[in-house]
Amino acid sequence: MAISFKEKTVWITGASSGIGEALAYEFAKEGAILILSARRKSELEKVAQNCIALGGESHVIPLDLSVQAQLEEVADMVLVKFGCIDVLVNNGGISQRSMVIETPVAVDRRIMEVDFFSGVILTKKVLPAMVARGYGHFIVISSITGKFGFSLRSAYAAAKHALHGFYESLWAELHEKGIHVTMVCPGRIHTNISLSALTRSGEAHGIMDHAQSGGISAEQCAQKIMKAVKKQKIEVYIAGKELLMIYFKRYIPWLFFKLVSRVKPM
Ligand SMILES: NC(=O)c1ccc[n+]([C@@H]2O[C@H](COP(=O)([O-])OP(=O)(O)OC[C@H]3O[C@@H](n4cnc5c(N)ncnc54)[C@H](OP(=O)(O)O)[C@@H]3O)[C@@H](O)[C@H]2O)c1
Repeated sequence: MAISFKEKTVWITGASSGIGEALAYEFAKEGAILILSARRKSELEKVAQNCIALGGESHVIPLDLSVQAQLEEVADMVLVKFGCIDVLVNNGGISQRSMVIETPVAVDRRIMEVDFFSGVILTKKVLPAMVARGYGHFIVISSITGKFGFSLRSAYAAAKHALHGFYESLWAELHEKGIHVTMVCPGRIHTNISLSALTRSGEAHGIMDHAQSGGISAEQCAQKIMKAVKKQKIEVYIAGKELLMIYFKRYIPWLFFKLVSRVKPM
């Protein structure tokens, strides 16, 4: 039977732009009840209006993924209001443009908080009700950087790798109880991710990198994610030729290590 998200409650973080926004529209077309979160309320409200026009119900709930107490408080409020979340899309994130040698630990920690711990915190909040009901789906936006590290991405790659360890364990524990996980590994997608990437000072990089602007659109990426989610795939890669590096690392490691320092990081 085809999977439908009609009237399913779908909570998307990072819904104010890029892949999260595009995914909100995919779920809205399905008739889902959307909870849209990120920091920029005004952007979320525009996305919410577009979702309503596409046939979805939408609720704007701003939050900052770097603040644990706020995440817990918001999650409690969401659970009271909606009862149970059917789908949690852990998408909100920040990238990095700085070398290990120059990056203060405070910057590494900020990236880990936003890209890894925020998902862990929200997952632990929504999971018990999912298990009690016997259904839940976690869509986790990792990266090809969750499969291999490369220059200027040390903390970002670490956070994305950590997501795989965490959610593979969750899947192993609970998939027989109706809990699904889809790990999404995009390559280069044309979004604002490089603009907000953290530099060594913790300031935003502020540049649309060539690699990003040459990537596929967020809309194409979201359509491919939806296809994989409907097939309940556990892991999906959405990338152009940069995908080859995953296969090189897995099957021809010597070639991977020869090439990886030549991958242009921007
Ligand atoms: N674009 C790519 O090439 C690419 C490749 C692989 C993986 N990804 C992953 O895809 C996901 C989405 O990124 P994107 O490419 O769509 O970039 P984007 O357009 O910059 O979107 C990032 C989203 O995360 C939110 N966000 C960032 N920091 C936050 C915080 N502290 N609290 C709450 N929300 C926060 C932003 O909203 P606010 O600024 O409003 O808070 C925004 O909605 C990220 O996890 C990223 O790592 C992207």
